[in-house]
Amino acid sequence: MAPGEMRTVEWRGKPVWILKRSQEMVAALPKHDGELADPLSKRNPDELTPPYARNEHRSIKPDVFVAVGICTHLGCSPSTKLSPGAQPSLPADWPGGFLCPCHGSTFDLAGRVFKNKPAPDNLQVPRYMFAGDTKIIIGKDEKGEA
Ligand code: FES
Repeated sequence: MAPGEMRTVEWRGKPVWILKRSQEMVAALPKHDGELADPLSKRNPDELTPPYARNEHRSIKPDVFVAVGICTHLGCSPSTKLSPGAQPSLPADWPGGFLCPCHGSTFDLAGRVFKNKPAPDNLQVPRYMFAGDTKIIIGKDEKGEA
């Protein structure tokens, strides 16, 4: 996948996003920690963030982000708003991420929810593992199946 490219696959009836983050996207992640509700993914870690994703980029490899594309508020599917900067329904300093069309929750490019939004938690990172450089297995990791 090319930097900035995103694909959606289905896993157990849920959309799972795979985003190949560019170097700029990865570098920008720490810059807005103060605006996030749970920047270090401490809430519900067993359910939402496997141990290998409890880091700033919420992923095994910094440039490859994997998440369940379902809002943690009431289950809508957030829209991709990957480009930074002002745009409708988003702040002028938008760093790039995802916008839930139902009630306006916003998530950064690591699926971390912004403060004071209806969604209580970051997007779920499913269990996953790499099988070689280009293949990702969703729903399974070294510790077994989800
Ligand atoms: S379902 Fe996403 S903000 Fe309500």
